[in-house]
Amino acid sequence: MMKRPFPSVTMSKKRWPLMILALVSISTAMVFFMRTTFDSCTGNDNRRFVEEKGIGSKILSPQNERKAPNPLDFMKSKLVLLVSHELSLSGGPLLLMELAFLLRGVGTQVVWITNQKPPEPDEVVYSLERKMLDRGVQVLSAKEQEAVETALKAHLVVLNTAVAGKWLDAVLKENVPRVLPKVLWWIHEMRGNYFKVEYVKHLPFVAGAMIDSHTTAEYWKNRTWDRLGIQMPETYVVHLGNSKDLMEVAENNVAKRVLREHIRESLGVRNEDILFAIINSVSRGKGQDLFLRAFHQSLQMIQDKKLRVPRIHAVVVGSDMNAHTKFETELRNFVNENKIQDRVHFVNKTLSVAPYLASIDVLVQNSQGRGECFGRITIEAMAFQLPVLGTAAGGTMEIVVNGTTGLLHPAGKEGVTPLAHNIVKLATHVERRLTMGKKGYERVRQMFLEQHMMQRIAVVLKKVMEKAKSHS
Ligand SMILES: *[C@@H]1O[C@H](CO)[C@@H](O)[C@H](O)[C@H]1NC(C)=O
Ligand SMILES: *[C@@H]1O[C@H](CO)[C@@H](O)[C@H](O)[C@H]1NC(C)=O
Ligand SMILES: *[C@@H]1O[C@H](CO)[C@@H](O)[C@H](O)[C@H]1NC(C)=O
Repeated sequence: MMKRPFPSVTMSKKRWPLMILALVSISTAMVFFMRTTFDSCTGNDNRRFVEEKGIGSKILSPQNERKAPNPLDFMKSKLVLLVSHELSLSGGPLLLMELAFLLRGVGTQVVWITNQKPPEPDEVVYSLERKMLDRGVQVLSAKEQEAVETALKAHLVVLNTAVAGKWLDAVLKENVPRVLPKVLWWIHEMRGNYFKVEYVKHLPFVAGAMIDSHTTAEYWKNRTWDRLGIQMPETYVVHLGNSKDLMEVAENNVAKRVLREHIRESLGVRNEDILFAIINSVSRGKGQDLFLRAFHQSLQMIQDKKLRVPRIHAVVVGSDMNAHTKFETELRNFVNENKIQDRVHFVNKTLSVAPYLASIDVLVQNSQGRGECFGRITIEAMAFQLPVLGTAAGGTMEIVVNGTTGLLHPAGKEGVTPLAHNIVKLATHVERRLTMGKKGYERVRQMFLEQHMMQRIAVVLKKVMEKAKSHS
């Protein structure tokens, strides 16, 4: 039986609070926090969240209950080797696991290798491997001979993230040239430190690269050429999609209402108040500081112009006061100095994002620099019919339609005032805000669902495997 985040809507209302509590309570089984490289291109600490009820419970739920033809059907009984640079609850590995299960769903023989494992036994690694084994994924140690043999036999090898390139020489050694023509390299980052020859020198010789957004693909093309003098292989852009479980919560009005009430109560905000939330790990690259500045400005604008609007709040989800970083302190100081404590709410990073998406009115995506590579939280928010106020950078520009599903502002300090204006705009124009949210949801239904991602991936796999075959 598949465990679902929410039982059927007919469930007696009495039990809801209990369930919701279970959902939002912080327990060790609820790990939502993504530790590493994925989903950011800002060059900073770029952790984020994923809405998970248990380790991998979402990603690991059966995918193939439908009988409709599956675009990945042609992968049936093919042998695919997936090479992950690490195994943790971060975006990169989790996404590769999603692919593993999609492939398992059509009867692909899937073998998984984690290149870098912690020396000590690790609970997360153990539990993720357990999940994979349960779903019929074979897990091999990175260095054993069987790994080499599998790579030689496989129809397709997927390397996940640039860093996974280290595995090639270290393990395959003289066999590298035989394997490269069937390698698909999946890249999710555009930080400078990934442009290292030791990671990516084989890139020009693989069958293809798959990248999460056009901007990121463009950036890789430029940087590899400028910096390293190497040329990208055939490159495919594959936008990600929302999981079925997230969509299920997003489309369940009863669940959303209960979550909304619960979270708003816990934050001490009223039902009619308007919540602008930024949901990302707290770090300068994600722009929480500039968001708070903009928010403060918007409060002043509302006051100066004597606008009649509901009370607005800023919610910063992703705080980690335990880390005691300068940046966290800076944010708190800003709030205290400007006496906006009653309007700004910091939420620890360990919570699931779905309850917050259900409770807020607008998502702020304020990633700085080159922006997000893709920014999965953006499509997750749109699934909840939220308009997005985003920086005009990176993947955000490929997701948000400016003026239709949200409003874009420039990255950097020059974006603060435009963002403040946009906050005021959405606070004052209720109808516009709701319409934008609906349009965002429609856009998700049109192009950012799991099935869309699966179709896009299927096209790439087909091409890459044809190429590999013609080579062998
Ligand atoms: C890549 O280089 C082209 C040509 O120089 C430039 O127009 C484009 O903006 C660059 N793209 C990125 C993402 O750096
Ligand atoms: C958030 O984390 C801090 C530091 O670990 C802790 O003191 C605080 O109680 C947490 N807040 C909530 C609401 O869990
Ligand atoms: C977004 O739309 C606004 C209003 O139409 C416009 O002023 C702004 O320049 C646009 N930004 C981008 C990045 O297209």
